[in-house]
Amino acid sequence: MKQILHIISSPRVEVSASRKLGNSVVEKIQQKYPDSIVKERDLTKKPVPLLEEVHINTFFSPAESHSTEQQSINTYSENLISELHEADIIVIDSPMYNFSVPATLRAYFDFTSRAGYTFKYDENGPKGLLNNKKLYIAFTSGNIYSEGPYQIYDSNVPYIKNIFGFYGVSDIIVFRAEGLAIPGIMESSLEKAIESIVID
Ligand SMILES: Cc1cc2nc3c(=O)[nH]c(=O)nc-3n(C[C@H](O)[C@H](O)[C@H](O)COP(=O)(O)O)c2cc1C
Repeated sequence: MKQILHIISSPRVEVSASRKLGNSVVEKIQQKYPDSIVKERDLTKKPVPLLEEVHINTFFSPAESHSTEQQSINTYSENLISELHEADIIVIDSPMYNFSVPATLRAYFDFTSRAGYTFKYDENGPKGLLNNKKLYIAFTSGNIYSEGPYQIYDSNVPYIKNIFGFYGVSDIIVFRAEGLAIPGIMESSLEKAIESIVID
């Protein structure tokens, strides 16, 4: 039995390419592990707030000192992090927005990147605390970033890999539907990406 966490970040619903690709990844995982349980974290339905001073003060102070407001901020952040710890497999829909991730996803990382929860520091430096997990990234973009002159513009896939690598997740597979704005490529890119999905 596998616990799957599906993180969704496109504000578009019906026409969203990243949701289609991410849903296909989840379906293929379910085919491989029929008794798996899927939990959805749709960041567009209930967006994680942008970081304010009260959030930072909460994350960097002991729980005993928290005000009522800080207690609920801490619980909210801890719940997001618990979902990550509980998952065996994480699927993240990651459309490219302005060369990076949607702001909702960035806000999510601000609430889940916490010392003692997803990473820690010891005498050897940082150490990730999410162990034995697999991450699938469902990446979609108008242009092409896996090769060619725009490769260095990609602050999406390398960023997600860095964050999850920092959390301790090293088993990362990327499925890409690129060129969704390029005539001649856009017509078949998503279909090809979906066909390429293999769950090992
Ligand atoms: C607000 C916005 C910003 C975008 N920025 C980029 C970009 O910087 N580079 C790119 O190649 N495509 C860009 N695109 C195209 C999207 O990456 C592409 O349409 C992708 O499929 C979006 O995923 P979605 O359909 O799940 O929302 C952008 C699209 C939107 C709506």
